[in-house]
Amino acid sequence: MRKNVAAGNWKMHTTVQEASLLAGQLNALLDAKNVGENTRVILGVPFTHIAVVGQVVNRNLISIAAQNCAAEEKGAFTGEVSAEMLKSAGCDAVILGHSERRAYYGETDEIIKTKISLTLKNDMQAIFCCGEVLEEREKENHFNIVKAQIENALFDFSAEDMKSIVIAYEPVWAIGTGKTASAEQAQEMHGFIRQTLAKKFGQEVADNCSILYGGSVKPANAKEIFAKPDVDGGLVGGAALNAESFHAICLAF
Ligand code: PGA
Repeated sequence: MRKNVAAGNWKMHTTVQEASLLAGQLNALLDAKNVGENTRVILGVPFTHIAVVGQVVNRNLISIAAQNCAAEEKGAFTGEVSAEMLKSAGCDAVILGHSERRAYYGETDEIIKTKISLTLKNDMQAIFCCGEVLEEREKENHFNIVKAQIENALFDFSAEDMKSIVIAYEPVWAIGTGKTASAEQAQEMHGFIRQTLAKKFGQEVADNCSILYGGSVKPANAKEIFAKPDVDGGLVGGAALNAESFHAICLAF
């Protein structure tokens, strides 16, 4: 059966020293009060922090994710970081297609697909982000938008590949705004995403895929959102930068 996942997305926050402290605090909290057997905790950290955070935490309790990778395998791409480099630094997963990458760095579904493929090739899990902007929801076009993102980025992968892909539904209007989608809105979209996967890959693949909600998840709302049948956890930004609040979210299943 699919895993529950509490994934933190630290974005471009913390120095290496602060990250080490934060990861250590979270590790101590998780050590003392561990999450359920079916729950996975992931920290999505900046590239520069991967090796350090990986040494601070108990890797049986906490997995490490990067927040992006290059769309090329290797070569003359100054400033880029490849999936192979991430793997060698100790990464378990890569967050791909986050709305900030789409909006500020021009990432298309096509580029994201290439990055997913390189991530899987290097034996890491891909956390694929999708979600509509406010205008699209207001026009009631959100289902079409998310369906197209999933079709474009994921439909060329195999059922076997899908075992290494986690989906994060993040309505852009709820990210960093304090405006959470209601638990009902999250469930409605998550159910739709699972149906979309079932039609393409079969029910078993769909049932085994963890679908996370992202957008202003906090200790105060996590329980209600995670209780929905098709919500398997969260991708958490702001609230993941505090050990106590992220720990509370890890225990919200
Ligand atoms: P937020 O960010 O929890 O701060 O809204 C979520 C995300 O962008 O993944």
